[in-house]
This record gives sequence, C-alpha cells and structure tokens, in this order.
Amino acid sequence: MKNAIKKVCSQLISATLTAGFLGLAAVSAAQAADPVKIGFLVKQAEEPWFQDEWRYAEQAAKEKGFTLVKIGVANGEKMMAAIDNLAAQKAQGFVICAPDVKLGMAVERAAKRNNLKVMSVDDQLVDGSGKPIASIPHMGISAYEIGKQVGQGLIEEMKSRGWNMTEVGAMRMAFDQLPTARERTQGAVDALKAAGFPVANIVDAAQAKTDTESAFNAANIALTKQTRFKRWVVFGMNDEAVLGTVRAAEGRGLRNDAVIGIGIGGSKTALNEFAKPSPTGFYGTVLISPKRHGYETSVNMYKWIAESKVPAALTLTTGVLMTRRNQADVRAEFGL
Ligand code: GLA
Repeated sequence: MKNAIKKVCSQLISATLTAGFLGLAAVSAAQAADPVKIGFLVKQAEEPWFQDEWRYAEQAAKEKGFTLVKIGVANGEKMMAAIDNLAAQKAQGFVICAPDVKLGMAVERAAKRNNLKVMSVDDQLVDGSGKPIASIPHMGISAYEIGKQVGQGLIEEMKSRGWNMTEVGAMRMAFDQLPTARERTQGAVDALKAAGFPVANIVDAAQAKTDTESAFNAANIALTKQTRFKRWVVFGMNDEAVLGTVRAAEGRGLRNDAVIGIGIGGSKTALNEFAKPSPTGFYGTVLISPKRHGYETSVNMYKWIAESKVPAALTLTTGVLMTRRNQADVRAEFGL
C-alpha cells in the first residue's frame, strides 16, 4: 500500500515538473518569437542629459540585442499617445521620465492596460496624494546629497576667493513642483547655512520650465529686484538652471569674477561652458551618470522582460564635483 502511494506521488511530482518545464519552454518559445522591444520616453528630448541617456540606452540595446524606441514626451497628451503606440508596436516595456510626475497613476494605468512593464528614471512618479508610486521601479539621483555637494562647492570657492559671505547673494533657481528639484536645491541651501552663510542673503527665483531660457527669464527678474549684491553664488536643479542664471548675470555686467555657479549634470551644457577660452560664472557642476541612468535602466528592463528579473524598487546614484580643472579626470572616473 505504502509503495503504491509512493508511486502515485512520484508520478504526480514528475507530471507537475514536466508541466512546469513545458510551461517554461512555452514562455521562452514565445519570447524567442517576440523580439524584445523597449520604449525610452523622456520629457525633454532636446536637453543634452536626455540625449546622453538615450545614447547609453542604445548601447545597451546593441549589446543585448533588443530594439529601443526613443520618444520625446513633452506633455501628457504626447506621453499617453506614446504609450499606446508602443503597445501597438508590440513593445513589452518602457522606461520613462514623465513630463509631470503627477501623471504617475495615468502612466501606471496605461502600462497595465497595454500589458507593458514600466520603470521610471530621473523623476520619480507620484500618486494622487503626492507619494512616490512604490510599485514602479525607479532610478534617480540622490538629490539632497548632491545638492549638499553643490552648496559645499560654492562655500569652498567663496573661501578660496576670499569673499565675505555677508556681502554675497545666493540665487536659488527653483522648480519646487518637482520633488527631485526641490530636494536638490534644499541640499544646497542646508550646506550654505551649515557653513554660516546668512539665510537672509538667499534669494529664490522660480523658473516656469526646466530649461536654460526659463532660468534666464526668472533670474533677470530676481536680479532686477536685488541690486544690493555685487557678488553671487548660483545653484539650481540642473546645469540649464545655473547656465540661464549665469547668462542673465552677464547681461548685467556680473562676470566670472563676481559669480560662482555650480550646476548638476555634467553633459554638453556644462562641457561647452568649460570649453570656452576664458572661464565664465559657470564654475562647476556635480557630474551625475547618464550612463547608469540610460544603460542600466534599459538593461534592467530587458532582464525583466526576458528573464523575469524584477528591477530593484529604488536605485539612487551619486555625483562628483567637476570643474574646468578636473573635468577630464572626473569624467574618466565615471567611465564617460
Ligand atoms: C531631472 C532634470 C534633468 C536631470 C535629471 C537627472 O529629470 O530635469 O535635467 O537633472 O533629473 O536625474
């Protein structure tokens, strides 16, 4: 009797295993039949940071042998159309930096409806109450820490120039509706405060969009109101924010000897500035890694689709202060 039960059991087990293997074989056969196609959607395709991200995503596509579909999604409408379009093209997933993080729930619903896997990059998507959507894997920069590095860099350069902090204005180019932007500039503010920079000298300017022109316009207004400072330190969410401010200051005769700007990014926007024959007020940038954000997110998405390997829920990347002087070394260190 015992033996009979044993036999039935072992038959059952082997039947289950066989079914399991057959199931797996069916899945991988389907995968072999459907070539992997991944979308990479970014809010500002013209910005060098996103161009770099795309370039590294392409590198991943070449290495892993999947098709990458790059789409610029400047607004919510374009974004929704792009997601539907990806599904129609038989993509299996996408990486996204959305035009507005508050579209998070709409992104998640569209992905589910179309049976697409989704992960976010750079700007973490939030739900209706402003909380990050934990079910969408995310890779972003460690915003607050990187902001602190900006603030510390500004303090050091003020010291090395022998500036008296009580006579210096600090321009915070703000885009507070975006959490990563708010955290970045908050980090810089806290570092300035911690080093004894007078809080009353910190001036806020709000940019309408996250590009150079919007920063230029906002800085012009702020500089017109604040003529009490002859020297400025400048920070913001990215290189474009700082560059726009530096250009506005130049328009008022405030040049490299009167302005210390430190951005975040380190792509072409910063490199072009460093390549000018004489230094401008754009003193430095905290270099972050478009390679990690473009290459790694794409590989993670590929592995999710092809190998059912779910990406880490949250990955935060670091940065290093880069100036004219150390740019070659720092970029090499970053593998760029
Ligand atoms: C945001 C900014 C970009 C860039 C990325 C980096 O998306 O808009 O300029 O700084 O973050 O993660």
